[in-house]
Amino acid sequence: MSARGHSEGITMSGGGLYSLATIGARHVIDAATPLVIDAIERLPEKRLATGFTLSDMGTADAGTSLSMVAAAVAAVRARAADAPVTIVYSDQPRNDFNALIANVYGLGPFETYLDAYEGVFPLVSGTTFYKQILPDATLDVGFSATAMHWMSTKACNISNHVQAVGAEGDELAAFQRQAAEDWRTILRHRAAELRPGGRLVLINFARDEQGRYLGNTGGVNMFDTFNEIWLDFVAAGRITRAEYENMTLPQYYNTVEEFSAPLTDPDDAVYRAGLRLAHIDTRIVKCPFAEAFAEHGDAARFAEEYIPTIRTWNESIYFNALDAARPLDERKSIIENYYNTYKKMVRDNPDGHGMDYVHAYMVISKE
Ligand SMILES: C[S@@+](CC[C@H](N)C(=O)[O-])C[C@H]1O[C@@H](n2cnc3c(N)ncnc32)[C@H](O)[C@@H]1O
Repeated sequence: MSARGHSEGITMSGGGLYSLATIGARHVIDAATPLVIDAIERLPEKRLATGFTLSDMGTADAGTSLSMVAAAVAAVRARAADAPVTIVYSDQPRNDFNALIANVYGLGPFETYLDAYEGVFPLVSGTTFYKQILPDATLDVGFSATAMHWMSTKACNISNHVQAVGAEGDELAAFQRQAAEDWRTILRHRAAELRPGGRLVLINFARDEQGRYLGNTGGVNMFDTFNEIWLDFVAAGRITRAEYENMTLPQYYNTVEEFSAPLTDPDDAVYRAGLRLAHIDTRIVKCPFAEAFAEHGDAARFAEEYIPTIRTWNESIYFNALDAARPLDERKSIIENYYNTYKKMVRDNPDGHGMDYVHAYMVISKE
């Protein structure tokens, strides 16, 4: 982890590409919108009239949450017609904030809620969710989707896989320890930010009750595929073993029990800070590209559409794991070859590929 508390080397694709390539992520957020509206409806009328603050942590380019934010503003205004509304978009300092500004201010491909309302104030922060983003007791509803699986630091390199879902023994234990600490850090800072009566709506990648997780819901296991292709690259001498081990993704998918623990144990610092679990369930949102393929049956189109969505979130990790002593062009060409190999695999044998999302949908209240 960097001294500033954000993970080095993780960036989503910039230039507005993120929201275009991740329509599935928007579906995930749209499914959470009723939880946000419910959180707003529970806020005391008197307080709402003085103003309302919503945060969207790990927002990327803000495109995927535009509809959710529009619905939240409408819900506030339905109860308090003149309430000033502040929307705080936050992400890591290396995020593409230009793309975010373009999306929020309607300069990108999406419609923005700003056109429909006066008195709505979007603000942008580069503070990691591993730190306090807002002053004490100023937040009404804290939202985050598909972001908090990124750890503050990589617990260790995994010797036989690229993701903790394939880790074993001491390596798995190291990830579990770091992830438990990270989750508590995130929650403690949110406990400080929230006003009493406020709520968090957090939609995080999870391992569900049946052991399912992102890209592993019955077909081809996506993370095993990532791993197999890189191991083939090691075997072919295209990358070194050390580069492969460096590719370990600094991510962890909690179970419902792991998410719930600090919110239900009266001795936990998070519980003592006043946070309580109001709701948790796990949901699967189907991979839109695999669903489209089931309709059109064109394997080449499926491969062309599906691989970019994966690339948005793991390319920077893989690229940064390659030896910096390699010329830049060589590193770029290895990465290009990797995704082309994956595309060919999907094109030649498309059945079972796909990245179904598996999330825990959580509502957390502040006493
Ligand atoms: C998959 S994107 C999700 C974007 C959006 N929330 C969505 O659901 O479509 C994950 C985002 O989390 C951000 N992120 C990762 N670690 C973070 C941290 N420590 N603090 C803030 N944002 C972080 C990444 O930069 C990225 O923009």
